[in-house]
Amino acid sequence: MRKTKLSAILLVMAVVLVMSACSNNKQLDNQSNEETKSKVVAEESEEKTFTLEELAKYDGQNGNPAYVAVDGVVYDVTSIGAWKDGKHNGLTAGKDLTEEIKTMSPHGVSKLSKLDVVGKIVESE
Ligand code: HEM
Repeated sequence: MRKTKLSAILLVMAVVLVMSACSNNKQLDNQSNEETKSKVVAEESEEKTFTLEELAKYDGQNGNPAYVAVDGVVYDVTSIGAWKDGKHNGLTAGKDLTEEIKTMSPHGVSKLSKLDVVGKIVESE
């Protein structure tokens, strides 16, 4: 009789353990779903496209954001101190500066890795 009671208690404990393990897994699943969703949103927003005419609006003047293009990739320099008001060592934002960064700058393309990518350049129709 005592043995039966003990095994009933053990059985209940086992069921509770299994149930709590399952609900934890569900939480983990939800978490990774959320992560995947935000990644997808971030990737989609990087896919913004600019023609050179559109890029020209992002010159850092009058409160506009400051974007520059190098090798077809558009970078955000709005919050970079060295690019205040869209100006940097005689350069102006809102342009393709591939030649300038490669031939005139002391740092070359090495500074690009610290910038946020906002999109890419497409040919105007
Ligand atoms: C697309 C073109 C360019 C981009 C995106 C760019 C970006 C940057 C960035 C992100 C910095 C670092 C700012 C910081 O750490 O706060 C920097 C610094 C600097 N840039 Fe440029 N730059 C460009 C072109 C040029 C050119 C053409 C020159 C010179 C003629 C130049 C000269 C400098 C100098 C002297 C510094 C400070 C020293 C250093 O950090 O190496 N840059 N640039």
